Amino acid sequence: MGRELNQYKRAIEQSNIVSKTDIDGIITFVNDEFCKISGYSKEELIGKNHNIVRHPDVPKSDFKLLWDTILGKNTFKTTAKNMSKNGSTFYVNTTIAPILDENGDIKEFIAIRYDVTSNVMLTEALKDKEEELSLLNSMLEKRIQDQTKKLRTLNQNLEKRIAEEAEKNREKDRMMFQQARLAAMGETIGNIAHQWRQPLSELGIVIFTMKKYFLDGNKKEVQKQYSHAKEVIARMSKTIEDFRNFFNPVKGKDNFFVKDTIDEALSILEGSLSKAAIDIKAAIDKDIMVHGYKNELSQAILNIISNAKDALLDKPVGERELSISSKRENDFVSIIIADNAGGIDNEVIDKIFEPYFTTKHASSGTGLGLYIVKMIIENSMNGTVCVKNNGTGADFIIKIPI
Ligand SMILES: Nc1ncnc2c1ncn2[C@@H]1O[C@H](COP(=O)(O)OP(=O)(O)OP(=O)(O)O)[C@@H](O)[C@H]1O
Ligand SMILES: [Mg+2]
Repeated sequence: MGRELNQYKRAIEQSNIVSKTDIDGIITFVNDEFCKISGYSKEELIGKNHNIVRHPDVPKSDFKLLWDTILGKNTFKTTAKNMSKNGSTFYVNTTIAPILDENGDIKEFIAIRYDVTSNVMLTEALKDKEEELSLLNSMLEKRIQDQTKKLRTLNQNLEKRIAEEAEKNREKDRMMFQQARLAAMGETIGNIAHQWRQPLSELGIVIFTMKKYFLDGNKKEVQKQYSHAKEVIARMSKTIEDFRNFFNPVKGKDNFFVKDTIDEALSILEGSLSKAAIDIKAAIDKDIMVHGYKNELSQAILNIISNAKDALLDKPVGERELSISSKRENDFVSIIIADNAGGIDNEVIDKIFEPYFTTKHASSGTGLGLYIVKMIIENSMNGTVCVKNNGTGADFIIKIPI
């Protein structure tokens, strides 16, 4: 039995950190493992109080509990934080048991421990990392919140600026329309003057003839001349009516025939077109109806025809041709306005729809004509407009949904 006990003792001492103290806590025995972990030699330890390896972090209450337990003849178990000779910390899983003599009195205490420093350190490191992580996480959350807030403000500012820019653009467009309208008015007056010249001289002749027949007492002829004069005056007032209709800004969309808008534009330009001796060929499907702003579409067509007229003026009389055709293609109508004025230079063909782009002298072109065409066709009529050179001139192609 004694031999077996010795073997137990050896096995325990070889695998564990073992120390013994007397009832006052004075070290009476340490094994090699204890010396190794604490950094003290046996000589330095024997006879000293066991609190030599105490760590200053450990609260007094822990020791009170320890002593209360073991003095009460009970076994105490803990994971202890200790300090070695060189000041480094180590953790040991500790079991302290009182050893009783045959009378049942405490003879001494034995403490058996094993090293759990790396475990504890790892756990602590893990805890630290977890804390770091959660801190990082909350910082991240805050940064995301901050960024989101910044983005939202940015977004709001952007929206505001877009609205401002859009408003500015609308203002610009309004001014451009106004400018173009004024320019067109100038042209209109010229056109009215031109269209009135002929009926005015006709009227002059009628009045002269009427006076002659009146003096002759030829009542029948006077009556005839009178009717003629009335016809001429009706024609003149129709011209005014046409122009007025055209420039009246009718609001609200309407259904209307494409042919009517083309005729209207042609009638407005009649004076200048006939003055320019342009041969006009029109092949217009007369029953195609579209929905939109009639006057605006007329204005667009007028701008294109007016450009063709300007371009054709460079050609010798007798060669000036303008063809206008319109036909239905599935769900839309296409209107093609073609001239034989030589076409548009490849360098500028991509720019002609831009506002203020003109190749004309400042006094004769604002460069707004085709820009307005584009705006009207795309924005008011939901259509498209494009240009192509056709070999002898330019083709302007308008497509509008029916
Ligand atoms: N049928 C055409 N043939 C040749 N060039 C053309 C034709 N139509 C337009 N262009 C070119 O496109 C340019 C832009 O036309 P746009 O109608 O926008 O302005 P503009 O006619 O110069 O001036 P505005 O119409 O404001 O009086 C013209 O200056 C001209 O160079
Ligand atoms: Mg023009």
